[in-house]
Amino acid sequence: MSKTCEITGFTNSQQERWALTHGQLTSNSKSQTSEISSTVSEKLSKEVLQFISSQEVSKSITARKEGIIKDLKKRFDIKFRGSKLTTFGSSKSGLGLRNGDVDLCLEFTGEKPKKVLNKIARMLRDDGMEDVTLIAHAKVPIVKFVDQRSKIPIDISINNSLAIYNTKLLKAYSDCDSRVRPFVLAIKHWALHRGICNAAYGTFSSYAWTLIALQSLQTTKPPVVANIQQGSKRNLKVIEGTEYDLTMHDNPRTLLEENNSQSVGELLINFFESFSQNWPWDEKVISIRSGDMIARNKKKWKQQKPHILDAVIDENNLRLGKHSLPIEDPFDTLHDLSRVLRPEGAMDIREEFLRAFKILNEGGNWNKLTKTKFPELVNDSPNTDLFEDLRMMESQDVKDKLGELQSELSVLESELEIRNNERKNAIDMSKALRKNAELQKEENKIANTLKPRREKIEQVKKQRDSVNNNYIPVYWIENEMSKVFERLTEQVDLMRVPSLQKEKELFSWFFELQSMYEHSKKTRELHNEFKKLLREQKNALSELENVKDSGNDISVFGDFANFDELAHKLLLEMNPMHNEKRKLKREIGRLEAWLRISSRKNSPKERFNNKKRSGRRNYTKKRNDINMAEVKSRAASGGALSLSDLDALLNSGGISSITNQQSNGSNRDKKKSKKKNISPHRGNRGRSRKNI
Ligand code: UTP
Ligand code: MG
Repeated sequence: MSKTCEITGFTNSQQERWALTHGQLTSNSKSQTSEISSTVSEKLSKEVLQFISSQEVSKSITARKEGIIKDLKKRFDIKFRGSKLTTFGSSKSGLGLRNGDVDLCLEFTGEKPKKVLNKIARMLRDDGMEDVTLIAHAKVPIVKFVDQRSKIPIDISINNSLAIYNTKLLKAYSDCDSRVRPFVLAIKHWALHRGICNAAYGTFSSYAWTLIALQSLQTTKPPVVANIQQGSKRNLKVIEGTEYDLTMHDNPRTLLEENNSQSVGELLINFFESFSQNWPWDEKVISIRSGDMIARNKKKWKQQKPHILDAVIDENNLRLGKHSLPIEDPFDTLHDLSRVLRPEGAMDIREEFLRAFKILNEGGNWNKLTKTKFPELVNDSPNTDLFEDLRMMESQDVKDKLGELQSELSVLESELEIRNNERKNAIDMSKALRKNAELQKEENKIANTLKPRREKIEQVKKQRDSVNNNYIPVYWIENEMSKVFERLTEQVDLMRVPSLQKEKELFSWFFELQSMYEHSKKTRELHNEFKKLLREQKNALSELENVKDSGNDISVFGDFANFDELAHKLLLEMNPMHNEKRKLKREIGRLEAWLRISSRKNSPKERFNNKKRSGRRNYTKKRNDINMAEVKSRAASGGALSLSDLDALLNSGGISSITNQQSNGSNRDKKKSKKKNISPHRGNRGRSRKNI
């Protein structure tokens, strides 16, 4: 069991982690007096200003950022008609570090914000952007991603208009005094590198640190900046149904009564001293809107339970009561920026203030003060040089890497092909099964006609046979009848008059034939119908055979829903593989481009062109005809030189090259060092916009 402190309740490891805070909470003398000399503050000022100059955003980064924004704008214009994309945050206020993100706000009311963000996330993933994350449950939902080429992080929010206004406010503060920017950036850099500037990890956001820094500049004596939100004429505006007071003074510099002449170093020392020695948040709320911290009571932001110390002692508690280290948003005054804090994060913040002041008290420097605590959380350098990692590599190594990637790509492509074929088969199977199901219906329909027809056939056959079992063809009866009729009606030969008996027989035969004719006609009709039904039945049976033949015997494979599922599963499997393929192709393209560029740079033609470009014109040929070693030895010994000797000598490094040559040894070494100078990592090409 680890030992706990009786006063703070901290375990051993907590006492170690927050040693300075623990010390302060358990000692009687609360505050440590500042013994920081003017030398330390001067040195700090110098170091900070030097650091600030290193934070200038390079042209290539600016160009890349602009490129990304332009590209997104174009895509959004098509996807979200009538939308507007606005940049806000530090890249707009000027209070950004060189590794700061780009904050973008898409103003669009055509669809629900979360749906829009979902669509954006999908689009970015399809584009192969890295680390695309949708943070849907934050106060302001955003999509975060990292530009895969430059590693610049980008946040996109929807209809976040208030942030556009507070960015304007921060910019106005930055414009008030030349010390604002270095002061704020120094604090942001310190907080970032000490691991206390990450809302997602339960510490303050970058924006919150900016507000803390500005409050410090408002409250130092005399103030460096005045409260810009003051003025009798108020600017009230309704945004998304809520009214906000967006007043900003037109000329804030005129608001200061006294001039503050402290250096940035002194201002920073004051800052760390006041927060470490007089922890303000027990009683106060940071409020740049008021120009000074305001009392918790007045703001009605009482610290809610669990309090920080209780929360960290309770191992199971990850939650912190509301208004722990309250910071009021300058426009959205109901918003407390400390709502993101977690118990350990709040403790870390306090510890870091104490550490910073201790280091400064001990005469420590800027590097020590801002020593990176969690390197993995700090992205210090957006990369705009597409070939940075390749410049120092041997060309053979690049070729080997290219070969590896190419074989990786071909494996991936064949895996994709296999899956694609499997998917096609699954779709075909599903279709076939679907068709079978339709055919089955058809088959049933036909089969259903067979039985009634068969019954009908039986019935007709019976009728036909019952009418005349001894079927005599009608045509024969008709012939016979006409013959009898003729006999009965022909002219009588007086010499051969038929006997009465004979005539009676003929008449009765005729009547017999007549009756037979009636029967036979009926039989013929029934027989015809019988034949027709038989034909129909035969057709139906052969149709049935056809339907059966055109079906596929694949029912053993299951139902088509399974194949649909399989096709969908394969598609899901293929999506990340397609992304991977795109990535590999991009990387292969990059390596190939580098090999092309570097081989061009080292080719004799390129060297020749480079010389032409640098104004040395084509004396090369002439110089090649001259024996440089002989010219140099003549020059060294004071011998006579012609004009072309002199030109060749100047082009090969001038008089100094004679001594260099003498002291550096062989010509071969010389050649070697010259070759180095035209290696691909030198010169303008590597830095040109093309490489961005
Ligand atoms: P960031 O935290 O990115 O701050 O919030 P930043 O000022 O841009 O700092 P870096 O350089 O990226 O680290 C971006 C913007 O979002 C708004 C502010 O306008 C802020 O400038 N914001 C942020 C809020 O309005 N409220 C918040 O709680 C956080
Ligand atoms: Mg930002």
